[in-house]
Amino acid sequence: MQLIDVYADPPGEGGLSILYRLLQERDETSSISHRTVPTWERHKNFVLSRPYKAWYLIAGENEEPVGAIYLTQANELGVSIRKDRRRRGYGTWAMRALMAKHGWLVYLANVNPRNEASIAMVTALGFRHIQNTYQLGKY
Ligand SMILES: CC(C)(COP(=O)(O)OP(=O)(O)OC[C@H]1O[C@@H](n2cnc3c(N)ncnc32)[C@H](O)[C@@H]1OP(=O)(O)O)[C@@H](O)C(=O)NCCC(=O)NCCS
Repeated sequence: MQLIDVYADPPGEGGLSILYRLLQERDETSSISHRTVPTWERHKNFVLSRPYKAWYLIAGENEEPVGAIYLTQANELGVSIRKDRRRRGYGTWAMRALMAKHGWLVYLANVNPRNEASIAMVTALGFRHIQNTYQLGKY
């Protein structure tokens, strides 16, 4: 398994497609507030604008892309694994690999309270539940 730096090697159509597919697979519990899927053009511009401190594609066996993980400027981690590759340890591996790469920081994971998979994963990784955030209005 390996992390492939999206910024070091600007993603070609292949990398952009994987990131887009992950967006399309999001459901209402995957993100904190469910947003609609952006257009391809908007997605491409977003990725190329380098919105996060770090962003990696997650490659599994045979370098097959299975997901992606990012780290925001506020040290928030966000990971998503392709639906057909979940529950094989990739999410856990990627979180550990990113934290090993970026060293000792206070890491945060913003998780939808209905996202049982993510809650179980971050809890198993040792994250503590520290706050509940309430939102007024919709994206
Ligand atoms: C959350 C997510 C990243 C987990 O990735 P994954 O590769 O499937 O997770 P892992 O295989 O490493 O699972 C680690 C542990 O998390 C828990 N877990 C994972 N999926 C679960 C599920 N569907 N239900 C309950 N627990 C689950 C289990 O404890 C699991 O350990 P186990 O398989 O030994 O029982 C993945 O489900 C996903 O991409 N979801 C959509 C995006 C998202 O919600 N991201 C989180 C925002 S930070």
